[in-house]
Amino acid sequence: GLPARVRIHEVGPRDGLQNEKTTVPTDVKAEFVHRLAAAGLTTVEATSFVHPKWVPQLADAEDLFPRLADLHDAGDVHLPVLVPNTRGLERATALGARRVAVFASATETFARRNLNRSVDESLAMFAPVVAAAKADGLHVRGYLSMCFGDPWEGAVPLAQVVRTARALADMGCDELSLGDTVGVATPGHVAALLTALADDGLGADTRSTISVHFHDTYGQALANTLAALQHGVTTVDASAGGLGGCPFAKSATGNLATEDLVWMLQGLGVETGVDLDRLVATSVWMAERLGRPSPSRTVTALSHK
Ligand code: HMG
Ligand code: MG
Repeated sequence: GLPARVRIHEVGPRDGLQNEKTTVPTDVKAEFVHRLAAAGLTTVEATSFVHPKWVPQLADAEDLFPRLADLHDAGDVHLPVLVPNTRGLERATALGARRVAVFASATETFARRNLNRSVDESLAMFAPVVAAAKADGLHVRGYLSMCFGDPWEGAVPLAQVVRTARALADMGCDELSLGDTVGVATPGHVAALLTALADDGLGADTRSTISVHFHDTYGQALANTLAALQHGVTTVDASAGGLGGCPFAKSATGNLATEDLVWMLQGLGVETGVDLDRLVATSVWMAERLGRPSPSRTVTALSHK
């Protein structure tokens, strides 16, 4: 069966804007996050505290995060941020961040390109970050990229994904997000990975909750999401208007569009708490700022009605 309710983890301001060619002004980013929250999204990944030279699009994290203080202080919207290392965690907690995410890779090539380290070296970099964050009572998400295929290495064995997921869970991550970074997954593969993870004790009911993070390169993200929901997943990552991609992953395109996800879930009678009209208006507004239309089919359909 399907869950009664799905929690959407909105990644547009982070995954979406990190991949824009031009850097979006900080006040536009702040308005974007506020509009997303006003549309009913309760988890909005706000930015990354990574090296500013690696991701210049998000180099304004110190300016942006305080502009979200009203949302943060009210406590009804979670604003997770990416932190690759202790330096990133210190920058985030200095501003009062309460939710952080580390981001591992299931493949060696992407670990090198994204983190300048091997898989094991990056896990060693994350371990003290997760330990310190947990000691401070923070909520920690562990992303795992290239779970379904890698543009350099091709197919990624399930056992390799399970091994890295297990390492993140054992570190103390509260939540794991399975990334299809380049959007190559299909539903049978999703079911097979979730089954392999469950066989290893990493299932829907375990301490490390499982989320799915699909990029929509081949148009499979919604089908993959449905397969995941049928396997007990209740948290789904999506990006308003389908923005997104990773500058270090060849051929990565936008995430599953939040509007496409909400349209499907509404049709299935699954609660999300999202006001679809307000969300579409937000993506249309953002598309105007970026100077090109949203790739989301649902945004296109609803904004031309
Ligand atoms: P490095 O060059 O190996 O860094 O980069 P280092 O540890 O050798 O440090 C070098 C210098 O950088 C030092 O300064 C540090 O202080 C500084 P120095 O002492 O030489 O003056 N530094 C920092 N400064 C500010 N903030 C920091 C920081 N860390 C070090 N946090 C590093 C290693 C991990 C930092 C770098 O590779 C990096 O920032 N990578 C980020 C890549 C990224 O953000 N990728 C996109 C997000 S992942 C993604 O999109 C996938 C996802 O969506 C899921 C999916 O789709 O699969 C999550
Ligand atoms: Mg991503």
